[in-house]
Amino acid sequence: MSTALAPVLVFDSGVGGLSIFADIAAALPSLPLVFACDNAFFPYGTKAEDELVERVDAVLHALIDRIQPRLIVIACNTASTVALPRLRSRFALPIVGVVPAIKPAAKLSRNRVIGLLATPATVQRPYTDQLIREFASDCTVIKVGSRELVQLAEAKLRGTHISVEALQPILAPFFADPDRSADTIVLGCTHFPLLRQELAAAARQPVQWVDSGEAIARRVETLIGRPPEQPAPATTAWMTADNAEARALWPALAQQGFSTLQFITI
Ligand code: DGL
Repeated sequence: MSTALAPVLVFDSGVGGLSIFADIAAALPSLPLVFACDNAFFPYGTKAEDELVERVDAVLHALIDRIQPRLIVIACNTASTVALPRLRSRFALPIVGVVPAIKPAAKLSRNRVIGLLATPATVQRPYTDQLIREFASDCTVIKVGSRELVQLAEAKLRGTHISVEALQPILAPFFADPDRSADTIVLGCTHFPLLRQELAAAARQPVQWVDSGEAIARRVETLIGRPPEQPAPATTAWMTADNAEARALWPALAQQGFSTLQFITI
């Protein structure tokens, strides 16, 4: 496959990567894109670091063999904040990581109180603390790690209605002090933009929600250029486990324009 025709691979543990996929597809509609999620090892946010780095390395090796992408987007903050250096040293192709959008949030916040909503792993990573030191040192950053919200985003894509009441306790720490509530919240897990409307309805006061999707789309364009205009290419979704839960995602995938679902065992 010539490099120009080779797809960009968007990879996550689960359906969260679809939020990044949608932003890239919207910005670059004629770019061939493939989505892959490691549903056999989902969720990543509760896994030990060493185990996760090994797993992502193995899954990407297998996917590169099958798909031969020209670039990979690790559409997962949990994996990117721990595995990027290793992945970049192992693979020759460009790798774009998704990390919490602390820098844009610090630019937007008026009261200098920022919330970070991510997986329990991402909120604890030294990489995340480094981002806060570098870009938000004059802000108070309230960190909330939630594995429940990841599961709720997956459930939403399988057709479950997500109630605002289920989200309110998760968001409560951002509004605990009425004088120092977060005015800006970083969605530091790619699953969470899939619940943006529900989160906005559950928030005790209006906040600015910041995610990384549009910045990632711009980064992809910078690295590979704007592809020539052509009708949107057919897209395949890959998963690492074939089970009823995976199949229940098909209606949402089809609605997002996917034409094929394939499975790969690792
Ligand atoms: N979507 C992933 C992220 O951005 C992680 C979800 C999970 O597997 O725990 O962090």
